[in-house]
Amino acid sequence: MAIISDDEDLGRRVKKNPVIKPETIEYDNTFENSIRPKDFDSYIGQSSLKETLKITLEAAKRREQPLDHLLFYGPPGLGKTTIAGVIAAQMGVEIRITSAPALERPRDIIGILMSLKGGEILFIDEIHRLNKVAEEILYPAMEDFTLDMTTGKSQTAKTLRVPIPKFTLIGATTKAGELSSPLRDRFGIIHRLEFYTVEELSEVVKRTAKILDIKVTEEGARAIAMRSRGTPRIANRLVKRVADFAIVKYDGVIDRRVADESLDILKIDKFGLDTTDRALLNLIIEKYDGGPVGVETIAAALSEDVRTIEDVCEPYLLQAGFLQRTPRGRKVSPEGYRHLGINMPSSQTRLFEEL
Ligand code: ADE
Repeated sequence: MAIISDDEDLGRRVKKNPVIKPETIEYDNTFENSIRPKDFDSYIGQSSLKETLKITLEAAKRREQPLDHLLFYGPPGLGKTTIAGVIAAQMGVEIRITSAPALERPRDIIGILMSLKGGEILFIDEIHRLNKVAEEILYPAMEDFTLDMTTGKSQTAKTLRVPIPKFTLIGATTKAGELSSPLRDRFGIIHRLEFYTVEELSEVVKRTAKILDIKVTEEGARAIAMRSRGTPRIANRLVKRVADFAIVKYDGVIDRRVADESLDILKIDKFGLDTTDRALLNLIIEKYDGGPVGVETIAAALSEDVRTIEDVCEPYLLQAGFLQRTPRGRKVSPEGYRHLGINMPSSQTRLFEEL
């Protein structure tokens, strides 16, 4: 399976630097790539998705048909690209990975569609950011495996239907609600990826430690899992960081003490919040009396962009119950105050009781 490109922040990087073309850069994140599971057995978690996919893949193979188009949505780092890679490997086909912001001009998407071979998978990350023109090129491609090309001008214009190889589109998004309904309706399978449990993340940690050839105890794995915000990508990153500490400062084994002490030094707290998460909660409490406050204001005060706040920080803070979204903005919950060790003022407590 050839991964042409992949990067969680590709969209953002491409926007800042349009010279980077994701479909032309080689996959450069060797660590993440090397630990990616290639089959369903080594892919931990998302059990209901795996069960559905196994049946769908088997049926497609028996029918000798390409797989239905699939849409995966959910917070970043939960394995959308990884599961797409597993699907490609299991189907024995190539996967082309790109990101919607890289498909700015019609020829970007047309070029990719025309270069696909039968049965191949096209993975489009951040698919909610696809522009209207690209979307309209995709409709007949997804439905009838054709491209509608217009030649000539106004009155003499003709539409040519050009066949393209049958392919499977896998779309990934953190914002399913921002997808237009005609595009959403063209996916045969739509699945939300869930945050991982501590038990599942412990398995991810143990698997990655084994690949890195570092010893980890059951309790050490659990300590890392507990601070991984329900997200395997974070668990993997933390294993690597803690492994560095284990090798340099300790005896090379990740046990609970090594994990806890290393993660304390890295300022990742018991719930996995990092300095930005805590700064966000502190800002709302100290400057805005606990909220509500708009996300634009929060982003400006933290010198972050709105998308990072919305897509990276907030999903877990909301899920952990530290933050609440209200029509008037974000509020820190009683649990959020408690986590930071700050007393919630009675005015705020009353507001929460009214909610
Ligand atoms: N690495 C990232 N996601 C994973 C998963 N779901 N299972 C195993 N390893 C992973």
